[in-house]
Amino acid sequence: MKISPKMKKALNDQVTLEASASSSYLAMASWCEVTGYQGSANYFYMQSDEERTHMLKIIHYLNDMGAVASISTIKAPASSYKSLEGLIKTALKNEQAVTKAIHTMVDIAQKEKDHSTYAFLEWFVNEQVQEETKFETILQKFDLIGRDKLAINEIDKILAMDAATPDDTAA
Ligand SMILES: [Fe+2]
Ligand SMILES: [Fe+2]
Repeated sequence: MKISPKMKKALNDQVTLEASASSSYLAMASWCEVTGYQGSANYFYMQSDEERTHMLKIIHYLNDMGAVASISTIKAPASSYKSLEGLIKTALKNEQAVTKAIHTMVDIAQKEKDHSTYAFLEWFVNEQVQEETKFETILQKFDLIGRDKLAINEIDKILAMDAATPDDTAA
């Protein structure tokens, strides 16, 4: 069973995209840590690990299919943010871009009648629904609780709780 060169390229590009997401969340975590948002820092360190597991899933899949994964360099992520809300907005944008890329791969798999890759990608399609919802829910908190210092401290506590009880779909 083989995957097409087009599918192979798309999957390898996705390896890079997941690596970029991991690196971007690592930078966000670090910014949160030095800014005093410890709960958010824990949350984004965890997100960074999660993106790395996504990257590994794709690397293993490519290798299992005999396609051989290639590891590319990634651009340095933004290292500072104006606010916690702005940071979460950037994270949501990242996830929306990832969702788009996953859906494009699903389209390719469908067109090529590549049932293996189609089945493999199903997990990622579902994961992206959760990932986008996660950040949308956090963004809602700013409208619900507020944007003053006390409100942000409250939101940071909520993220701390989320980091302490990661959902079982994390891997
Ligand atoms: Fe991911
Ligand atoms: Fe993600």
